[in-house]
Amino acid sequence: MELTKEEERILAGEEGEARQQAMRLLVALGRIFGAKRMIRVRSAQISGVSYRTIGDAGLEFLEDFARAGARASIRATLNPCGMDLRRWRRMGVPPEFAEKQLRIARAFKRMGIELTWTCTPYYASNRPRFGQSLAWAESSAVAFANSVLGARTNREGGPAALASAVVGRTPLYGLHLDSEREPTHSIRMGFKPSNDLEYNLLGYFLGKSLGSAIPLISGLGRPGLDDLKYLGASAAASGGIALFHVEGVTPEAKRGRFDGRGLEALGIGEEDLVAVKDALSSSRDFDWVLLGCPHLSLAELGAIAGLVRGKRLRKRLICFTSRAVRAEASRRGYIRAIERAGGLVACDTCMVVSPLEAMGIDGAYTNSCKAAHYMPSLSGAEAALRSLRDCVHVAIQAGP
Ligand code: F3S
Repeated sequence: MELTKEEERILAGEEGEARQQAMRLLVALGRIFGAKRMIRVRSAQISGVSYRTIGDAGLEFLEDFARAGARASIRATLNPCGMDLRRWRRMGVPPEFAEKQLRIARAFKRMGIELTWTCTPYYASNRPRFGQSLAWAESSAVAFANSVLGARTNREGGPAALASAVVGRTPLYGLHLDSEREPTHSIRMGFKPSNDLEYNLLGYFLGKSLGSAIPLISGLGRPGLDDLKYLGASAAASGGIALFHVEGVTPEAKRGRFDGRGLEALGIGEEDLVAVKDALSSSRDFDWVLLGCPHLSLAELGAIAGLVRGKRLRKRLICFTSRAVRAEASRRGYIRAIERAGGLVACDTCMVVSPLEAMGIDGAYTNSCKAAHYMPSLSGAEAALRSLRDCVHVAIQAGP
């Protein structure tokens, strides 16, 4: 790889041990993927921050890295961790877990990384612009940034995103290149998804069918931002999709730039989504309703508040969102409405990276295929899939 003089100096350790370690990792990555040089990135989104997923080895690595002088040199934000850092007792998180999670938070703070703890930084303060280069690690946020915002990021691992945060660079390969952003498959919809669950199921079907291809979807109508959020998150969970185009909707597929000719075609009917739901969803009844994978937007919290206002919930409801969205939702009275009904609006964490089994949750209603995909392996918990609206109705009526 061709490095600039400054990059050579960092690699030689002239700017300290931590920057050297970070540069070494990125150079190794660049060599593996045949990158010719580094590019500067505007922001990093760092995953692998929950004690639930990184354990003691990850905690010690972060503390050592911070002690070695690692400091963010660009805007760097964090994925959800294993608990709401203020409301963890109300969530039922064990104190031993909380103590380790708080140590992780202190290490990131020492590194100058913003303690945002959300997988939807684009709904908070870190919303990239079209064409900006990023080093983001959260797969759902990667899909959203590339597809919906037209920014450019590969699907980084947590350590690579952290290294980019420290040296402000990433190797130039993959989705940073125009030639790698062209669609590879043409998807023809036989129907239009009608709610958030159907967008989840569609994404899950695409990821399972296409692996890490780049679909060009036509016939989808005018999906909203949250619909696209769910589509991307589910496609990234069941496969490795990091970029999708929606004809006439997403920025790189506007004005007929891609016509789909010559691409491998795939038709999708309602029966395909029914099959995904049957395979992924439990038929059991659960005491819990968990919403917010990816983190809920302000509009979704407003919708939930509208549904539960003045009611008393019969099931336990937790809504996961970011601190920034929660603060705005609080100003608008949404949090009061949800919590007066008996629900909890948690931030900093989510249903996948919090210790569900220690919280006594063995299954839940949710609208998220990503959560349904990961909950069984990470927590031994099952998911019963419903639309967001139906999940809230289940919480109100206490029936399946
Ligand atoms: Fe976000 Fe957690 Fe789902 S990080 S995408 S809410 S698994």
